[in-house]
Amino acid sequence: MKSDVKRIEKELRELNEFNSTPESGTTRVLFTEPELKGREYVKGIMKDAGLEVTEDSIGNVFGCLKGTDPSLAPVWTGSHIDTVLNAGMFDGMAGVIGGIEALRMIKESGAGHKRDICAIIYTSEEPTRFELSCLGSRAMAGELSVEDTKNVHDKDGKTLYEVLNELGYDLSEFHRIKRSKGDVYAAVEMHIEQSSKLENDHKQLGIVKAICAPSNYDIIVKGVQSHAGGTSMEDRHDAYMAACDIALRLEKIARENTASEYTTATIGRVATVPGSVNVIPGECRFSVDIRDTDADSKKQLMKNLVSQFPDIEKERGVTIDIVTYNEDIPVKCDRDIMDIIRKHMENSGAEYEYLLSGAYHDSLFVGHFAPVAMIFVPSKNGISHSPEEWTDFEDIAAGTDVLAETLLELANK
Ligand code: GLV
Ligand code: MN
Ligand code: MN
Repeated sequence: MKSDVKRIEKELRELNEFNSTPESGTTRVLFTEPELKGREYVKGIMKDAGLEVTEDSIGNVFGCLKGTDPSLAPVWTGSHIDTVLNAGMFDGMAGVIGGIEALRMIKESGAGHKRDICAIIYTSEEPTRFELSCLGSRAMAGELSVEDTKNVHDKDGKTLYEVLNELGYDLSEFHRIKRSKGDVYAAVEMHIEQSSKLENDHKQLGIVKAICAPSNYDIIVKGVQSHAGGTSMEDRHDAYMAACDIALRLEKIARENTASEYTTATIGRVATVPGSVNVIPGECRFSVDIRDTDADSKKQLMKNLVSQFPDIEKERGVTIDIVTYNEDIPVKCDRDIMDIIRKHMENSGAEYEYLLSGAYHDSLFVGHFAPVAMIFVPSKNGISHSPEEWTDFEDIAAGTDVLAETLLELANK
């Protein structure tokens, strides 16, 4: 089976037309007009490919090829079409378009398969709108209930519950989203690497060994708001400077962590109150994102940081509070699926290697109820979450070829 690289390029470019920032990369935020239109576009190509299209109560879209034995659990592939602000056109979309292409190849090959094979758009992998990631796959894993959707707000204060209701999703059916062990036989996601290992090592394809999971917090530092000139350096209780102190300690702990193979710590959003040039901030609130391949190492890292707060509070005359959003569990990819992927990479003649995923993916949550594996394709200069993000269409096609063979083999087990 051979994918059609021209069609992959055409569909990715057409999907990319649904974009609220065409002048500066791609922005497609959950349930905004471009995202809703993007969904319709993808459903259209699923239908044209002869897939049976359904959607659940949180907007996960399934395009399925029927197998010959309906009593068997299905095989899944898929990814997401929502983006961060000013993203590129590949993060998520490569796995959705590549997944549909793989199903088309299987259908056109005429090769029979026992299990259903589904290509999925998971709802909102990115936390862009609701500050919580992987909404669709999180609900599948039973980690987002209909009650929880009432406590998830966007920046305008709207809850996910309200938004789903307004769009006509049937929330009385929400419980059906959740999957249990055994409901899905195997799931394979293709994604861009979002790092530079493949490019540096001159490999076209990657087999993911483990997917790091994020823990997300807000840290709120309260000091004393005061005059920038009138308050001497000795007399101030500057919330922002205390935040910087916390930030540098976090960086040091993460850099020096030897308890796992891979750890990152990021502060991506910082706000000071009142946020004026001539006022010492009385409050600073910032986000913390910690990733790790090992759940215990991540816990320990945060514990270590928090144990230093009393010193900072005393030294700087501030108070420090933490809001915990999520402490997600990392996932190891399934050895048997990885072996099938490796075999098909070898058959295809592509150069490949094993790697870790520092980014999270819907496969993280799918991995809580099904065996998962991931195929990575290279990111130019390792850049992603940026308008500069690029992956060659030929590489996506090479990943799609392996994906199709892998899905077909799994669907006949
Ligand atoms: C997903 O995009 C992530 O932040 O890893
Ligand atoms: Mn992303
Ligand atoms: Mn992604």
